Amino acid sequence: MNSSFQAPIGTHDVLAPQSALWEGLVATFAQLAFQYGFTLALTPMFEEIGVFNRGIGENSDVATKEMYVFQDRGDRTYALRPEGTASVVRAFIQHQPTTPYKAWYVTPAFRYERPQAGRYRQHHQLGVEAIGTDDPAIDVEVIALAWRFYQALGLRRVRLLINSMGHDECRGRYVNVLKGHLEEWREQLCDEHQKTWIQNPLRVLDCKRESCINVVNDGPLLPDFLCSECANHFASVRKGLAVLGIESTLDPRLVRGFDYYTRTTFEFVAEALGNAQNAIGGGGRYDGLSEQLGGKPAGGIGFGSGIERLLLAREAEGITQNLINRTIDLFVVDTSGLDVATVVVDELRNQGYAVVRSFDARSMKSQMKLADRSGAALALLIGPQEAESDQITIRDLRGEDFERDQQLVAREDLIFTLRQRLKK
Ligand code: HAM
Repeated sequence: MNSSFQAPIGTHDVLAPQSALWEGLVATFAQLAFQYGFTLALTPMFEEIGVFNRGIGENSDVATKEMYVFQDRGDRTYALRPEGTASVVRAFIQHQPTTPYKAWYVTPAFRYERPQAGRYRQHHQLGVEAIGTDDPAIDVEVIALAWRFYQALGLRRVRLLINSMGHDECRGRYVNVLKGHLEEWREQLCDEHQKTWIQNPLRVLDCKRESCINVVNDGPLLPDFLCSECANHFASVRKGLAVLGIESTLDPRLVRGFDYYTRTTFEFVAEALGNAQNAIGGGGRYDGLSEQLGGKPAGGIGFGSGIERLLLAREAEGITQNLINRTIDLFVVDTSGLDVATVVVDELRNQGYAVVRSFDARSMKSQMKLADRSGAALALLIGPQEAESDQITIRDLRGEDFERDQQLVAREDLIFTLRQRLKK
């Protein structure tokens, strides 16, 4: 039989050198999150299905069409996490940490989507959640963190779109008026929304089809329905962003895909990417979510940013700068076949050097090729003669004519010599 397995449709293996970019992205985010006072939260990759159904909304596209739902052997119904927020809020309710609870995470997320560039069935998000305060200053902090992160990645063509959905009452009033408008124009809606507008009129605002866009463009706008408290909250958020020099564009039709959103909602758009996949991050407030999941009232706000899309946006902007600068220091070439190479490699690693070697008793020539490819600054040669005389040959791998630049040193002087040559 000639069968070999491939990664499932809509998923990707990430191997070197691409994986180094991922490491850099996560490390950059972890450092920033720490500076902003967020701590790491790890929650299970699957939850009882109710966490998501009640959290993101049973009628949301993600819950109805995209969730990976399964029965375990004990007949419990679980879902793979389609996003990060509901799980963190569930954990917040369960463990009751002191507030504001500020958590960051890096996680895969699973959605049964139609795979295309920038849209996958398993994607990965970096995100934060700040739970337990309504203060608009935390909205500003969360948005600023995302903004600084994109800057640190070198992205320059990112636009911040912002809106406020108000609280339940403001949104309720808006939805009533919107329903009237959609009813009047229902025949102009796209096929899907002609059927579903009544269950979930806000989703029509999210529709990317021309027909729905036209109907929505002539319709009522959310910000006009905010009560004075929500309007003041929104004004404070926008003022806070302006004070930090973060430009935000009001998008009165921005509602985002989950039911938990209240008040501030935002999206970061990479202008270098095509329309369908240009959202590199998004988030907002979810002041009712804790209660929705059975907890005490606790306002919260957060965002998630797709790692794959961030990398696509960097590529589209032509950014090549590394996010971590690491190189292998040493490659040990061993033709003695004795334990001495194993011991030397171990000693050097204990001293903090990044050291690689070859295996399978390859020829000198083949090992030197590997050494060159490894990116190491120096090769350490251990042949039968060196082993016998307790010496090591250091060969420069970066010089023009490395054949000439060889130095024979006693084993006991090796570390001292390397410190001088590598300046570390
Ligand atoms: P979201 O907008 O659904 O929000 O996803 C966040 C980000 O994940 C998107 O902006 C995008 O960059 C990336 N993303 C989403 N779906 C895919 C996909 N199928 N393939 C590739 N990338 C994707 C949330 O998930 C919310 N939990 C964000 C949030 C946090 N709101 C409050 N706190």
